[in-house]
Parts: sequence; structure tokens; C-alpha cells
Amino acid sequence: MPSSSIQDRSTMITTDLEIFADSFAKDVDRGLRQTPKNIPCIYFYDYQGSLLFEKICRLEEYYLTRAETEILKTFSEDIVSCLPTDLVLVELGSGSCIKTQLIIEELLNQHDKVTYSPIDISKKMLKESSISLLEQYEDLEIISIAAEYEEGLRQIDMRDERPKLILWLGSSIGNFEQQEAIRFLQNTVKTLSSQDYLLIGFDLIKERRALEQAYNDNQYVTATFNLNLLSRINRELGGEFDPNTFRHKAVYNEENSRIEMYLISTCEQDVYIADLDRSYHFKKNERIHTENSHKFSLQAIDQLADEVGMEIIKQWFDTKRYFNVTLFQPHKEKSLLK
Ligand code: AVI
Repeated sequence: MPSSSIQDRSTMITTDLEIFADSFAKDVDRGLRQTPKNIPCIYFYDYQGSLLFEKICRLEEYYLTRAETEILKTFSEDIVSCLPTDLVLVELGSGSCIKTQLIIEELLNQHDKVTYSPIDISKKMLKESSISLLEQYEDLEIISIAAEYEEGLRQIDMRDERPKLILWLGSSIGNFEQQEAIRFLQNTVKTLSSQDYLLIGFDLIKERRALEQAYNDNQYVTATFNLNLLSRINRELGGEFDPNTFRHKAVYNEENSRIEMYLISTCEQDVYIADLDRSYHFKKNERIHTENSHKFSLQAIDQLADEVGMEIIKQWFDTKRYFNVTLFQPHKEKSLLK
């Protein structure tokens, strides 16, 4: 039988992302009026930012991607053997394609067909990554969902009865504040059945040097990624930032087990943003806090599982024990048994 075309195996579900576009302006205004100033890290990922993030993932210093890829290369067979057949592979974010591919390939090895549903706010990223995957795997069907995570998960829940494996790779959970991560996972667990699984990648606490190098690379890719936030404000909100008057800084805050990223104004200045019809004052050396990237202990992962009503099924590590991938399942008594 001839295999079905790429178009036949690909669907895009679009939700209302307008609300999200509007919140960029509001969040920039709110963050730049506060002391200390801040801009939420979700706004790194416009198309340019997503490309820069892919470049970060290939950097020598950014061990996170290599360590997690090593885990998935070594253990994907073991991971997939823990799962039921005929499941839907859901991914939060669509930027981790090489890693996802390792899971897709193993699922195709062990099962006949695979449905993959990436959830991402960038339609363009979703389109590009789907085409490349569909070209490589004939037995793959992709239902892409252009939405924020929670709305995307609701869409999948409405459409598919099959068990799900939700991938949340790359230690993206580390960019949430602890209470936010707990709330998000609690809400996610509520939508899951007792047959569903979550596979989460966690960057582990390690020596300061390795951590700080990963966020202060020699080629300034991370700096460009951070400064792209200002260029994005210029492009989308009519901002008049001169990115050359800001510098990137990333430091490890040991007390809170997190890398903190900042943009620091190198001079006293006022920056006008047309869409907000307002100027924002910066003192010399004043910082904009742009990202927290939390690092985890095994105890913190256990505690998280407990707080959100999940059970740890199995954990895998890279050889340096820099990174951890944990398979969770909703606690039978705590989940809504569907
Ligand atoms: C997406 N996230 C897990 C990355 C991290 O390591 O926190 C984002 C990043 N920021 C700077 N480099 C990479």
C-alpha cells in the first residue's frame, strides 16, 4: 500500500494567540515600571529567539542538551518499554526535535504507528519541525497545536482518548518559579488519566563553574539571545532600545539554586516605546531581570512529585550525573480516574 502523503499525516490546530500578543505589551510595560525591572522569559521565543536558542543547544558550554541527549540515546528503549502501546506522544514546546526524534524512533521500533502532538506558541516553528519529521518517518502522524501549554493540553484531551506520554524536556521546568511549576503540573495532572505518563528533563545542581559557563558562552550566543528581547520590543512594540547600551550577565544564585540572567544598562538613559507611548528611565548599571533557570536536587524532584500527586516510575542519568530524566505517572488515588 502506498504510504499517505505528508499533508494527509499532518494537522494544525490553532487557538486564539491574539491574547498572547496583547500580553507582551502589557508585561513589558509592567516589568519596566517595577523595581527591580524585569521581563518574563517566555518572550525570548519569537522566531529569532527560537533560532538563537537552537544555536545555544549546540554550544560546547551548554552541557544540558548533550547530557539529556546522551540519556535519551542510551535509555530510549528502556523508557519506551515502560509505556503502553498505541499512545499519543505530546510535547510541550517543539524546539527539542533531535531529542524527540530519539523517542519517536524508539516508539516506531516498538509500535507500528505513532501520533505526535507538539504544543507551541510559534506556528512557524511547529510547521518547520513537523515537515522535517514527516519527511523522515512514514508511519508518523503529527497533530500540531499552536497554543499555550494549558490550552494545548485541553485541546488534546478533547480530541484523543488514547493514553498520552507528555514530554517536557530540556529542563524547561526550571524556567518556572517553584509555585508556578507546582500549579501547572497540578492542573496538568488533573487532565490526565491513570494510563498517562509525563517524562520531564531536570538540570541538576552542580559546581558553579560549569553552570555559569553554560550561560556565559565564549561566542556570546547567550548574550545575543538575551539582548534579542530588546530587539523584539523594537520590532513589535516600536521600541527605541539600542542593544549596544546593554550587556548580558548570568550568575548562579546558590541560595535559590538558580541561574539568574540580566540585561544591564551601561549608561543612564531613557528609552521610548511607541506602542506604550512612554519612556522608561534606566540608571547606569541598572538591571532588567530576564530569566531564572532553576537547578534541581533529587530530593526536590521527589518533593515535586509528592506535591502534584505524581509517582516516580523510573529515573535515568547521564554519565556525569549532570542531568536527570524522570518518568512520572499520576498517583492512582489522587488523579481523576477516567
Ligand atoms: C529553555 N531553558 C530551559 C533554557 C535554560 O537553560 O534555562 C533557556 C536558556 N537561557 C539561557 N540559555 C538557555
